[in-house]
Amino acid sequence: MRLAIKRNLSPLLVCLIIFNASVAFAQKSVRANRQSATVEQKINFLLARMTLAEKLGQLQQLDGESDGRFRPEHLELARKGLLGSTLNVRGVKQTNELQRVAVEQSRLKIPILFGFDVIHGYRTLFPIPLGETASWDLQAAEKSAHIAAQEARSAGVHWTFAPMVDIARDPRWGRIMESAGEDAFLGAAMAKARVQGFQGGDYSQIDRVMACAKHFAAYGAAEGGRDYNTVDMSERTLREVYLPPFEAAKNAGAGSFMTSFNTLNGVPATANSFLLRQILRSEWKFDGLVVSDYTSVAELIKHGVARDGSEAAQISLNAGTDMEMVSRFYNQSGAELVKSGKVSIKTINDAVRNVLRVKFRLGLFERPYADENLEKNTIKKPEFLQTAREIAAKSFVLLKNEKETLPINKNVRKIAVIGALADDKANTLDWWAGDAKAEDSVTILQGIREKVAALPTKIRFEKGCELNCDSEKDFGKAVDAAKDSDFTIIVAGETRDISGEAASRTNLDLPGKQLDLIKVIHQTGKPYAVVLKNGRPLTINWLAENSPAILETWHSGTMGGAAIADVLFGDVNPSGKLPVTFPRNVGQIPLFYNALPTGRPLETENRYTSKYIDSPNTPLYPFGFGLSYTQFKIDNLRLDKTQIKRNENVKISVDVENVGKRDGVEVVQLYVRDLVASVSRPVKELKGFRRISLRAGEKRTVEMTLTPKDLSFLNQKLQPTNEDGDFQVFVGNSSEGGLEGTFKVGQTAVAEKKN
Ligand code: BGC
Repeated sequence: MRLAIKRNLSPLLVCLIIFNASVAFAQKSVRANRQSATVEQKINFLLARMTLAEKLGQLQQLDGESDGRFRPEHLELARKGLLGSTLNVRGVKQTNELQRVAVEQSRLKIPILFGFDVIHGYRTLFPIPLGETASWDLQAAEKSAHIAAQEARSAGVHWTFAPMVDIARDPRWGRIMESAGEDAFLGAAMAKARVQGFQGGDYSQIDRVMACAKHFAAYGAAEGGRDYNTVDMSERTLREVYLPPFEAAKNAGAGSFMTSFNTLNGVPATANSFLLRQILRSEWKFDGLVVSDYTSVAELIKHGVARDGSEAAQISLNAGTDMEMVSRFYNQSGAELVKSGKVSIKTINDAVRNVLRVKFRLGLFERPYADENLEKNTIKKPEFLQTAREIAAKSFVLLKNEKETLPINKNVRKIAVIGALADDKANTLDWWAGDAKAEDSVTILQGIREKVAALPTKIRFEKGCELNCDSEKDFGKAVDAAKDSDFTIIVAGETRDISGEAASRTNLDLPGKQLDLIKVIHQTGKPYAVVLKNGRPLTINWLAENSPAILETWHSGTMGGAAIADVLFGDVNPSGKLPVTFPRNVGQIPLFYNALPTGRPLETENRYTSKYIDSPNTPLYPFGFGLSYTQFKIDNLRLDKTQIKRNENVKISVDVENVGKRDGVEVVQLYVRDLVASVSRPVKELKGFRRISLRAGEKRTVEMTLTPKDLSFLNQKLQPTNEDGDFQVFVGNSSEGGLEGTFKVGQTAVAEKKN
């Protein structure tokens, strides 16, 4: 009866009531956190007036067209208040038109939340997240996320489905490109930086979007590296390795989380109350929105945990998935589920609350529309492009540089550029390319041509073979070009569709006959460098052994080609470090630096130790590795104390000197090993890093602090603990080698001591 009366109120009247009530609440509120109390009161006010259908409507997210248009049915649903959110609808024209219907024609005028995958840029593309992580530059990650947010928000997008914070230790998995790589410490730091970049301190601002930490959880550990596959993992590994980046995202204020497609220990993440209710809500006190992944509610049927759509809705709602992406079982079965008591109205209300809360936090009730002029003036600003170029250059990792093959001397007059990927615009739009347009981007060939435009240098381009390199027919032309030149740049790697979602591989070699092409160029005996463009570690043993220079450039975004030229010609000194291990062969996978020790560590002469009989244990390139055009000397490791109490810090310092001839940047890395503990601890764990810029000849002291938190771990009962014992520290420029020191954690601290 009460509902019926409210439903008949005119929209204007409802609006007035809401407004007056909000004012009244605001006036009454005396609490310090008045803002958030007011939001909760506004939510209660709306909830009290919503029909069950309208509530379920808020829990529905539907897909738009891939080009950004909404679908005709969205208008009708918006008018009825049955569409909480969309994904992919973007651009001021489209978002405003649909929003207008929701805000001006629906009964309760609740605005629509527009989501989109702004993963490494909206219109201006930055390097893929794996590449950007190779910069080890947290400010850069924050900056690129902020630029992406500015562009996206100006185009009517409120919510990005990023950052993806899945730990990825398996390069067969195509989505490793979207991750921050294999390490929890680096991953957590990147997660924080990206959330801050997207959201700032307040994501209602017109230059910010709401972030979404995804995919919760452990999606990166799919068995066999096959996308969407099962994950079976100990709670220790889950909590120590896979969850820290999520917790860091939550602590940085991430407004939303997305569930993952996989099962975790038998329970699909979308129906996993251990993840969603126990960890996320109860332990971490998350009060934002949880969205399913694309049709992952419907997929509960194929996972074999729901008989039909109704059961799928029931278990995911009860588990704590608030919003359903694309499939529609919440809407189709919600009313029946409430009626039969299988889902309580409280569960529905709580989910709706989470949706409304982020809509209020985004300021959508006050400012539901985007501004066309702002969009025009924001998209592709020259300074955004310049930043994209700088960040791309920072992401490149120099894997090999024999006899200073690189940088290319600007006096070289004839350069051959080989490889179809060198000049393929479409392939500059790497997986998750947002709203980027191929015509905006600079290919590698273009970048090189522009770099030498003012010089009398001749550039000859030959593909050698087409994109997937299945024929040797044009190898001859490439060889001619190389023979006729003083230097050759060979671009090889993966096309965009080989990385990303649903792009798992069992073979990590260069696709097609690309290696054969490199070999025939190699045979010319002329100097050359290989530029790799790819989304994952590749098995490149032949190159590592034979090619004079290898520059890993990932998929590097709109300005990638210009940035590659900057590095090839030495205007920028490469400084990237691998955020992920490069294995020698697929059989070694998973291979990551922070493994546990075994009871039988490798001894080459002893058969009964942990090793392969047909491959070394070691990677081709370790985590943290990357060269520079200059050389750095790291020495004089000092610990401010060699014995501390459990609640004390240790300060670790080293001197870093640029002993080469060029200015450069080094990433100094601090690793720790807990030598004896109540559970086996990894052979090394990253616990700190500093990215420092040093002029040729410059020397500086770098100091890092280990805190009790850095030394804590989960005991046998999975409780965080700090134990007494001996610790080893390693400081260097990769996860292998480095200076070593030790300290003790004990009951009594001894006086300060230097070694
Ligand atoms: C992906 C998500 C993405 C969603 C929406 C899914 O297939 O797993 O990462 O956000 O699609 O595009």
